[in-house]
Amino acid sequence: MLEDDIVELEDYYTVGVYKKRPVVIVRGSGAVVWDIEGREYIDCVAGHGVAIVGHCHPKVVEAIKKQAERLITCPGIFYNDVRAQLAQLIAEITPPGLEVCFFSNSGAEAIECAMKVARKYTGRKKFVAMMRGFHGRTMGALSLTWKPEYRRGFEPLLDDVVHIPFGNVEKAKEAIDGGTAAVFVEPVQGEGGINVAPPGYLRALRDICDEKGALLVFDEVQTGFGRTGRMFACEHWGVEPDIMCLAKGAAGGVPIGITVGRREIMSSLTPGSHGSTFGGNPLAMAAALAAINVIREERLCEQAREMGALLKNGLEKVVSESFLAREVKGLGLMIGVKLRRAVAGEIALQAVDKGVLLLTASRNVIRLLPPLVINREQVWKVVDALREVIVNYPG
Ligand SMILES: Cc1ncc(COP(=O)(O)O)c(C=O)c1O
Repeated sequence: MLEDDIVELEDYYTVGVYKKRPVVIVRGSGAVVWDIEGREYIDCVAGHGVAIVGHCHPKVVEAIKKQAERLITCPGIFYNDVRAQLAQLIAEITPPGLEVCFFSNSGAEAIECAMKVARKYTGRKKFVAMMRGFHGRTMGALSLTWKPEYRRGFEPLLDDVVHIPFGNVEKAKEAIDGGTAAVFVEPVQGEGGINVAPPGYLRALRDICDEKGALLVFDEVQTGFGRTGRMFACEHWGVEPDIMCLAKGAAGGVPIGITVGRREIMSSLTPGSHGSTFGGNPLAMAAALAAINVIREERLCEQAREMGALLKNGLEKVVSESFLAREVKGLGLMIGVKLRRAVAGEIALQAVDKGVLLLTASRNVIRLLPPLVINREQVWKVVDALREVIVNYPG
């Protein structure tokens, strides 16, 4: 198929909810993807942060192949070997006390489950979420998501949601009360601009939630599985949530959502109160087992810290050489470059011509979420490409 035909078909037959970039990607390996013309790109989009272990990691591919030949689907009403193993592994690698999980197929579904559990367990209605927070696009998750552009046209959403400024302890004290079922927070806000929780903030939320009897939910959909240089971002602060929501890179690129929580809390979901046709399917379970083993065996958390520091240093030099770039933010390989103008989309488009794929996070932040397997040479290429685009950007 020709490039133009593919573009025409997708534009005509799929709904126009994505601002498309003019690239037809057909192949990937590690931190690199190729377009249909054979052009190579260093992929700092990584499927919106999904390709943590790199594209088509051989061990993940092998696990998918083997499982596909054995069993692809198996509903939750039956037991399954790989599902049992993954559930045990998730309990082992997540913070102490989180040991019972529900498997679904996306980040938003992981959030929906947490919202339902929180209401069922506490018997309360209200949710507290953060300004600039992002939790997904389904009606429940969208109610927690802050950005007005995402919500507009879909109201009424849940009305028992209060958004408070991320990082402000006083506002949290005012908002979290005896009617609050749960507080939802990303330890590092992704979509909202790569905002790292200030020191002491998550601990303060933990204390307020304990005092008021509200549940603390960490949305680690984007930060989880090594992205920030620890298996889970909350480890940077040593604060443990009651429930954690996971997705993205957990299954090496195969759709998955995981809601993991304390036994007592998760037990409030009884037969029939929740479920998912595809959730916990053996294909995703096998892929996740393989991907998580790769993260551990290849020491990708360490790699994220090392490569993240290298990338951050390089980008900080770019900031010092240009007026447009203002600041580099982030943790591990979750990095944002804040600009003085709302041209992040333009910069991302220009970077395509330099062989680098970038994300944005709000209109003035460039977001980089490369696979954790990115190497030094690739990091330097990314920095050089960004330097060229940013330093030469007109105005
Ligand atoms: C922090 C966070 N939560 C939830 C979601 C929603 O995940 P999904 O798009 O898989 O529904 C995302 C997606 O980007 C996210 O970054």
